Amino acid sequence: MSKHIVIGVTGGIAVYKILEVASKLRKLGYSMNTIMTKNACEFVQPLAFQTITNNYVVTDTFERPYTWDVEHIALAKKADVMLIAPATANIIGKIANGIADDMLSTTVMAARGPVIIAPAMNTAMYENPIVQENIAYLKDKGYLFIEPDSGWLACGDLGSGKLPAPEKIVEYVVDVLEQVEAPIEDKGTSHKEVERDLEGKHILVTAGPTIESIDPFRYITNHSSGKMGYAIAEDAAKRGAKVVLVSGQTNLECPPNVERINVRSAIEMYEAVHEHFEWADAVIKTAAVADYRPKETSHHKIKKKGEHLMLELVPNPDILKSLGERKSHQVLVGFAAETQNVIEYAEDKIRNKNLDFIVANNIAEAGAGFKGDTNIATIIEKDGTVTEYKKMYKSELGNVILDKLKNYLD
Ligand code: C5P
Repeated sequence: MSKHIVIGVTGGIAVYKILEVASKLRKLGYSMNTIMTKNACEFVQPLAFQTITNNYVVTDTFERPYTWDVEHIALAKKADVMLIAPATANIIGKIANGIADDMLSTTVMAARGPVIIAPAMNTAMYENPIVQENIAYLKDKGYLFIEPDSGWLACGDLGSGKLPAPEKIVEYVVDVLEQVEAPIEDKGTSHKEVERDLEGKHILVTAGPTIESIDPFRYITNHSSGKMGYAIAEDAAKRGAKVVLVSGQTNLECPPNVERINVRSAIEMYEAVHEHFEWADAVIKTAAVADYRPKETSHHKIKKKGEHLMLELVPNPDILKSLGERKSHQVLVGFAAETQNVIEYAEDKIRNKNLDFIVANNIAEAGAGFKGDTNIATIIEKDGTVTEYKKMYKSELGNVILDKLKNYLD
């Protein structure tokens, strides 16, 4: 039987993009129902979704409260995945506060499977601390979020809050649906009693990209989101460890009970990490450190001259390698993001950098790597043991890594 998606559509100008999302999902063979809020119906007629999904659309415009108790349970049961897109600040606020006063919010409340929320709204609304707190709260409860893009918004403002392209939403939904077969029972540790088995341990985590300045306006960086390192830091703190997170620039909030030190460049990260090395029982280096930096950083904006501009780069210190040389009692964990020969390169790194184990992933694979919420990892240990893991949420992988680390700490 094909997987079933319930799409919740709320009132935003981006509704039209969801017609394309529905059409693409149907072409991929998924069946769908749509629930539209009253405001959504002001932007697009339910008939449009009915035609594209070839299935009935539930709206709040027909006053049929007598069917709600049946309908919302029926749709919630039917849904392998729920997608709410575009999601307004209003629906996010309602879900976060347990309000179920229309068909969509009632169905979400009854849903047992993954709920994916794609916020789309004006930048000021999106950045409003209330909205951000609601999002953080829902993430913690296991709701999945497709981060909005930045760009020109329908209201004429420039900033974040733009619904991502339909392809991106479809890819995300399909990714989640693929995992539904072997249900991810635990999206991290938020639902389960956490054993405080790392109590008393000092764990230093690095995360995110480094930024290497060319001049006051230009720099070299990479696509690291920091999500993997933040997930590990959060998991470790929940398990009772004292955690210092040395973080390059990210959009992520500091996890609870974690001490964050913000850095910009590889040199700054080097200094912060070495400062805490003696204190640490373990170092987990997820950061994507730039291998090179400009030899000189201009104090003034480099002017366009119409000729070739040569930028001379010099190598950055390999932080992990320098820790490997200094290591006494510390367990050292490295990361290896590669696009080929993943295991071979990882084994080299264990030797060269004097590591205990390395978490390797192929960033060319769908569902692994920098930006998403999932990763596909292989752990390679210094004794040559290789363990492959299925695709999982980064928070869950964080705990897998910490389980492995615990063996070394013990
Ligand atoms: O050698 P490569 O950059 O692939 O190694 C990746 C691992 O080394 C990661 O754990 C990364 O955080 C760390 N690294 C580092 N300093 C660098 C480059 C990488 O600590 N300059």
